[in-house]
Amino acid sequence: MSAYLDNAATSWPKPETVYQAMDHFMREVGATPGRGGHRREEEAARIADETRAALAELFHAPDSQGVAFTMNATQAINMALKGLLKPGDHVITSSIEHNAMWRPLKALERRGVAVTAVPCARDGALNPAEVEAAIRPSTRLIAMLHASNVLGTILPVAEVGALARRRGILFLVDAAQTAGAYPIDMQAMNIDLLAFPGHKGLFGPHGTGGLVVRPGLTLETWIEGGSGTESAPETMPEALPLRLEAGTQNAAGIAGLLAGVRFVLEQGVERIRQHEMELTALLIEALRGTPGLTILSPDDPAQRTAVVSVTVAGYVPEQLADVLDQVFDIATRAGLHCAPQAHRTAGTLENGALRFSPGYFNTADEIHETAAAFLSIL
Ligand SMILES: Cc1ncc(COP(=O)(O)O)c(C=O)c1O
Repeated sequence: MSAYLDNAATSWPKPETVYQAMDHFMREVGATPGRGGHRREEEAARIADETRAALAELFHAPDSQGVAFTMNATQAINMALKGLLKPGDHVITSSIEHNAMWRPLKALERRGVAVTAVPCARDGALNPAEVEAAIRPSTRLIAMLHASNVLGTILPVAEVGALARRRGILFLVDAAQTAGAYPIDMQAMNIDLLAFPGHKGLFGPHGTGGLVVRPGLTLETWIEGGSGTESAPETMPEALPLRLEAGTQNAAGIAGLLAGVRFVLEQGVERIRQHEMELTALLIEALRGTPGLTILSPDDPAQRTAVVSVTVAGYVPEQLADVLDQVFDIATRAGLHCAPQAHRTAGTLENGALRFSPGYFNTADEIHETAAAFLSIL
């Protein structure tokens, strides 16, 4: 048997259309959007624009031109934080952030930005009233993940978005664990900036992601360079997305991302979520009650994504992952998952945990076999 249960890191496999789109782009299109002025360039630009439009549809973004491509969610988060925050500003975040949010915030803190991390409960639950209580006159931004990559916990972004809007504060959401896997409506949730990876729930390849920026919001540039058009001025263009896209983009990756987003739109996020949550429930059911085993996620399935992190008394998570990989060919991820803050909150900072993250292409059989294999080594 074999099973890939590390979809929270990067989804695999991809829909067949993603492989085809990238192969087609590499062989038949080849050019770079915005660079050329020939038919191949026009085709590449059309693909990039259709990708922005598909993403805007998926996220209910007000304007597809606000979608700027990046290499991953980390770049998008850095672009947003460093483009907005100045010394003297205050930013509110949560206590379960990934290092993609935490480390740039800590870097900004060293440059004079004040950071408050609102404590989450042990299972990751966040009380919006505590976010509101942390607001100061200098609070410029609330920045938090939509769902934890360690606990699976979904944060109440609609409630936080509403209070951010009421108090005139910008709202950045890290949708690394929810883009494509859980409904996101930037307008209904009052999200001003949405950072997303292309390579997880959107089924794109590595090296894809982006930042969706609400129209009217101007970010300082974090990287400057060629923008293809508007080349004469010494500064980056004002208009999005060019302002945030210096240098040649991952055009073949974007072609793959378009196929991935179209797949998500065709299947529907609700259907994807339902399948993933059925697999998650099966796994939890099979593991619950095992002596010494603790499941870190919230009990209520409505409050979590398809992430099941566990600790087992007397076992080091990395060793369990190694046996699963080498004996059973089951891919999981053990350790701190780039999110020591989440492990600190869960009380698992010392050894981390073992994470199973099923995806849309996993089957119930794979989950049954994984549970049996895992229980056989305990
Ligand atoms: C919650 C969260 N934020 C950010 C990231 C970073 O994403 P990327 O690897 O695309 O930069 C991840 C990746 O695991 C994540 O889970």
